[in-house]
Amino acid sequence: MESLMNIVRKHEEWRGKQTLNLIASENVASPQVRKLMSTDLLHRYTAPDGFYMGTKFIDEINELASKVAREVFGAQYADPRPLSGHIADWILLSCFTKAGESILSVSPTNGGYPGISDQGVTQFMSRRNLYFPFDEGKMNVKVDEASALIEREKPSLVIFGASFILFPPPVKELSRIAKSVGATVAYDGAHVLGLIGGGRFQNPLREGASILIGSTHKSLFGPQGGIILTDGSSAKIVKDAIFPSFVDNAHYNRIAALAMALFELKSFGRAYADQVIKNAKTIGRALDEHGVPVKCREYGYTESHQVHLDNNRIDSGINHTKILEEANMIVDKGTRIGTCEVTRRGMKETEMERIAELIARVMVKREQPERVRKEVIKLREEFDNLEYCFKE
Ligand SMILES: Cc1ncc(COP(=O)(O)O)c(C=O)c1O
Repeated sequence: MESLMNIVRKHEEWRGKQTLNLIASENVASPQVRKLMSTDLLHRYTAPDGFYMGTKFIDEINELASKVAREVFGAQYADPRPLSGHIADWILLSCFTKAGESILSVSPTNGGYPGISDQGVTQFMSRRNLYFPFDEGKMNVKVDEASALIEREKPSLVIFGASFILFPPPVKELSRIAKSVGATVAYDGAHVLGLIGGGRFQNPLREGASILIGSTHKSLFGPQGGIILTDGSSAKIVKDAIFPSFVDNAHYNRIAALAMALFELKSFGRAYADQVIKNAKTIGRALDEHGVPVKCREYGYTESHQVHLDNNRIDSGINHTKILEEANMIVDKGTRIGTCEVTRRGMKETEMERIAELIARVMVKREQPERVRKEVIKLREEFDNLEYCFKE
């Protein structure tokens, strides 16, 4: 038991206090959100059919979470029960397609989410995956070719959004044609949900999508989990399907914590999302200037929380992500650089310049990671507070 606590303490010390966390899929929750995760709600069972008694306050929490989500995202219906973004995607696929029908989405080769591709759940669902024609230079869907493909193939479900997402996909441009062939238009906002809620990324529900699903812990700074938001027409289908097929016992400590994160987003979301994007643009430019290959220079690098390094132009003989980790700068093997967590810790453009320089010292100048690590820890220690949340 002691060794378990020790390992967790070491993790908390390292990832929680000494690293610059640049994983685009991650964020950091406020003390209030964290506190709600370990309330009595952690233990309780509920069921929409009223099987379990003792849930009168939990029912209120559910309504509150749903209400604030509807407000933040301008949705008619919000369901915070999905246990993860992946489960929310699975609900979407199951509710809006039948066996033998096709789903159009971004291919994993172009940064689409593998979980809804033929490498993921669709292989168990007898659905056919189609992929958007994609412009790799612009990192976006090709509108004319996609339009022709939709007319030709008549998919039942068109899903915008991706795991590698720098720019808003053409929801407005393609929704009408998708609907004209009978498709449901949806958006996987797992990555950009906090930016949408902050009003700094396209709101797909206002651009023609009927359903928006997402993770609650990437650019949105809630606990790990999923959410489904819909317009009026899709609400009943989703609501009726979730229990008991996809979520039986919802986790109400998480839902209470999510409601708190949504209240934070409602109050501070605009300033937060604004700074996340400014920081991403700054780190993209600064990395580029330091000789680290970054994609999409001609388009301003990004309009989201992500910046993509150009792996084709990086020396593949060196394990850069491992060396960055040794210098306490944590990225994925994609290689995406994400600015959500550092922004939440209060870092701004000046610090992005500093981080870009630290990355370049490891990747370009090949300095010893141990030397750079000391400066990383120092920078991290300067930003020990959390911004864009209520002060206790
Ligand atoms: C676009 C996209 N959708 C869905 C998911 C799954 O989300 P979760 O990790 O919450 O299950 C991911 C995960 O990274 C993702 O990138």
